[in-house]
Amino acid sequence: MVSFLLKCRLFSMSAWEPGKVQGIPTVPLSNGLNIPVLGLGTSHHGGYSHDAVVYALQKCGIRHIDTAKRYGCESLLQKAIKESGIKREDLWITTKLWHMDYGYEKAKHAFLESCKRLGVEYLGLCHSIGVSNFLIDHLEQLREDCQISPHVNQVEYHPFQRPQELVDYCRSRSIVFEGYCPLAKGKALSHPNIIQLAKKYGRTPAQICICWSIQNGIVTIPKSTKLERVQENCQVFDFSLVEDDVAILNGMHDGRHVSWDPTSIV
Ligand SMILES: NC(=O)c1ccc[n+]([C@@H]2O[C@H](COP(=O)([O-])OP(=O)(O)OC[C@H]3O[C@@H](n4cnc5c(N)ncnc54)[C@H](OP(=O)(O)O)[C@@H]3O)[C@@H](O)[C@H]2O)c1
Repeated sequence: MVSFLLKCRLFSMSAWEPGKVQGIPTVPLSNGLNIPVLGLGTSHHGGYSHDAVVYALQKCGIRHIDTAKRYGCESLLQKAIKESGIKREDLWITTKLWHMDYGYEKAKHAFLESCKRLGVEYLGLCHSIGVSNFLIDHLEQLREDCQISPHVNQVEYHPFQRPQELVDYCRSRSIVFEGYCPLAKGKALSHPNIIQLAKKYGRTPAQICICWSIQNGIVTIPKSTKLERVQENCQVFDFSLVEDDVAILNGMHDGRHVSWDPTSIV
């Protein structure tokens, strides 16, 4: 699945102060642009919430939204972004084309259609290029065929699915690793290790998962349709896990996918 990261200006950083809108740190891409390390996911699974998106933008400092043509909510996002009052140039929006859009002309057409649905102004301009669910073999194939290395690779990443070899490969090629399903679609939240760490840090299981992912240098995009959870998922910059606890979470990898497994895609 090819993804286009429609980038605008940098999102400014500031320290987290309880009660104030949180500044979210950014990660530099190889093209000199910066992507906020925490974004809000959207999806066709589990519903889309207009209020949650507006709340994330207005109250939680979210400036990075992940969507896709397939999720069917690009037009809805246009409305939410407009209502939030956040300027387009202060937002990082990622959308993804679908595999039926492969090919130069088709991809260009699908890209412009996505821009139209999203109501973004810089049509034809794709500032950063991402791929999604690309494993090392796929990225190697791309290397042979393409002149531009993708800026981002968006792949499943949570305590049960930590593809470290792929993370290392991406880093060696200056491709930023973005992790989706950081809560393992909620399945990680009831794991005893995570509950124990949540108690230790006085945090929630979701915050432990998101903090761990970000501490591992992963751009992280949890999704929630509930306002209070969106807020909870953003309050992860005022604590950090000690090395031993990161190691506990790193040790939970068992290779399981909660989304889908791209291994068989050639
Ligand atoms: N590129 C790809 O192939 C791909 C595939 C899958 C996902 N993604 C992207 O990654 C994003 C996140 O993935 P995901 O939504 O599948 O999984 P996720 O973020 O790991 O988990 C979302 C699930 O956890 C629940 N949740 C969220 N915050 C919570 C909290 N604080 N406490 C308890 N439960 C909580 C949500 O329910 P509520 O909504 O009811 O809160 C939802 O059921 C997606 O929205 C999408 O943008 C990309």
